[in-house]
Amino acid sequence: MPSRNRCTALVLASAALVLTLPRSLPADEPIPPARPFEPMVYQARRAKLMKALGGGIAVLYARGEEDADGYRQDADFYYLTGLNDAGAVLVLSPEERAFKERLFLKPRDPDDERWTGVRPDIGDSLRRTTGIERISRTSALGGSMMGLLQTTGTLYLISDPGGPDSPDRPEMELYGKLSSKLPGVSIKNRTDLLPALRSVKEPRELDYMEKAIAATVSAQHAAAQAIRPGVEENWVAGLIDLEFKRGGAVRPGFPPIVGSGRNSTILHYPEHNQTIAAGSLVVVDIGSDYGHYSADITRTYPADGHFTPEQRKVYDVVLRAQQTCMDMIKPGVYFDDVHRKAEEIIRAAGYRDYFIHGLGHFVGLDVHDSGLYRKPLQAGMVVTIEPGIYIPEKSLGVRIEDEVLVTQNGHRLLTAALPRDPDAVERMMRKE
Ligand code: GLY
Ligand code: MN
Ligand code: MN
Repeated sequence: MPSRNRCTALVLASAALVLTLPRSLPADEPIPPARPFEPMVYQARRAKLMKALGGGIAVLYARGEEDADGYRQDADFYYLTGLNDAGAVLVLSPEERAFKERLFLKPRDPDDERWTGVRPDIGDSLRRTTGIERISRTSALGGSMMGLLQTTGTLYLISDPGGPDSPDRPEMELYGKLSSKLPGVSIKNRTDLLPALRSVKEPRELDYMEKAIAATVSAQHAAAQAIRPGVEENWVAGLIDLEFKRGGAVRPGFPPIVGSGRNSTILHYPEHNQTIAAGSLVVVDIGSDYGHYSADITRTYPADGHFTPEQRKVYDVVLRAQQTCMDMIKPGVYFDDVHRKAEEIIRAAGYRDYFIHGLGHFVGLDVHDSGLYRKPLQAGMVVTIEPGIYIPEKSLGVRIEDEVLVTQNGHRLLTAALPRDPDAVERMMRKE
């Protein structure tokens, strides 16, 4: 990869080339993508979880999803292993004497891998990256479980992405089969443990989250510079993607939202198939994924670079609600109370019926991250604060979303590098 100086020299050497380059091409070298953490990080997390379980057996299936950017591991599994392989199974058995952690990988298929990519082999390299000594194929899972159940009769459910009645829970299918063979076995729910662990971020996680935020801030700047009447929403989305990649993100943390005019009032508008019209607002809700950690930042831009008086009036209400809610964030506070404060402010301004979603959420490995909303906030948690007012009949939607870290004494605004004040947003859009 050429150094920045060499890049600069090459560009300066060809004035003609410079003149024909679109403004959006990268001027700086891209940041390399993240690596998984050291194996001891995942080991320590598993040890904490096992200590909290105190005994029994917990099985966790990897149920990530394939999308346009490839396989993305499910967050609970990634949090405990750093492994991005589909079809893997983790078994934790805290009471076992020698091997408390076992990993099972689905069989390799050379023909399949010629189409979809090479999967990890079982060997020392995988033992080193996961820190797990006992690795075998999923065909051995049933036999291993029968062996482990000779010393304990408790099976713990530890991950519950689909809710208690979700049908696609392979753990419950396995547990059902095992308990029908071994009648003394009991199944217990400890799906509270991983949210409690995952929601309090380690410093290394915050480092990755801040890198995801930095790429997202750059992408918001690129969007602000590109937005004007006549530009396609889709073009803005493309520029955002380029900035994500330049910032070391291999993919977005969630499908980007670039909604103009009426689309600014559609909360998760995915299509990006409209042309930005004069006088409209554009809601840009985006987050890059750096090392599996997602950012989540929304800004609302006036297409012409200036808010109309009515747009600014609504913007000011949303900003005031956001700032008041942010000011409340500190350890011990209940998120519900913060949400209620936003409702109160928006109601007093006359827009209560146009605030139709929750105030925010935990953010981390998942954009809507694991966490216990009914418990008070703790230092180390990261939440979004994202009030919005959406008036479809006026094609007027405003959302402002930022990420806040709960600290020992209060909070820190992680997304402070990106302006929120309406005058500053207008300045950011000026092509000067
Ligand atoms: N980007 C989805 C959300 O803000 O929750
Ligand atoms: Mn959000
Ligand atoms: Mn968002």
